[in-house]
Amino acid sequence: MPEAVRVEPIAGALGAEIGGVNLAGDLSNSDFDAIHDAFLKHHVIFFRDQHDLTPEAHKSFGQRFGSLNVHPYVSGMDAHPEIMEIIKEPEEKLNFGGGWHSDMSFLEKPALGSILHAIEVPPFGGDTLFANQVAAYEALSDGMKAMLDGMVAIHSASREYSARGHSAQARKSMDAQVADDAPEYEHPVVRTHPETGRKALYVNPAFTLRFKDMTKRESRPLLNFLFEHSRDERFTCRFRWSDGAVAFWDNRCVWHYALNDYHGHRRHMRRVTVNGDRPA
Ligand code: SIN
Repeated sequence: MPEAVRVEPIAGALGAEIGGVNLAGDLSNSDFDAIHDAFLKHHVIFFRDQHDLTPEAHKSFGQRFGSLNVHPYVSGMDAHPEIMEIIKEPEEKLNFGGGWHSDMSFLEKPALGSILHAIEVPPFGGDTLFANQVAAYEALSDGMKAMLDGMVAIHSASREYSARGHSAQARKSMDAQVADDAPEYEHPVVRTHPETGRKALYVNPAFTLRFKDMTKRESRPLLNFLFEHSRDERFTCRFRWSDGAVAFWDNRCVWHYALNDYHGHRRHMRRVTVNGDRPA
């Protein structure tokens, strides 16, 4: 008799650990439905000890949720361009993803979700933080919600992947290109989740440059307020990695932040990113 899928929340705001699942095995439709339900309900889900998750199995799991993204600026694995290796070597200082963001909001159709597999974790630190943007939206006043509901923001990779940006800095361990001329896309400041119908804030400090029809200077005070508000501790959870662990987060309603507090130690992760739709 196969073990039943167990779902245990890890925090009040978001996040649940899923037990009784081998992601490398054949997932039955009912197991898949239980995982999908937990993903929509908890926004980020975690699996421990997925030591058999090969690159092929990692991609197969992602493909059950949609087509896979090939990152436009960061090279993937030679044999698996859809898998990004997120590595920080002991002697490196910068990490990848070390600021609050939603993956690929700089695309016309940003990522649905990201599936991160821990290959080697440091002896301490290197946790990932997550923030629930449905809760952040719902905590706003009616007046602020009414104003934001009609607003549009401009997103681009041009700052984060500029020559001076955090993500394109030369690293021994990752091959990222500079994209000073990356295109700009318009997304609603409040998006409606296409599967749950719930509203979520959809701006982030890495990729949101300004509001539509406003200058950067005019946009800054309100963006700063939203960036502060969206990462308030009451909307967050924190995941302590172990070798073989997997996190799967919903970029449509979650921010994340990779902590860079393990200097002198190696951290090696593999990420598959599932393509999403145009935010509405
Ligand atoms: C990322 O996908 O932004 C990196 C997350 C992490 O390494 O914890």
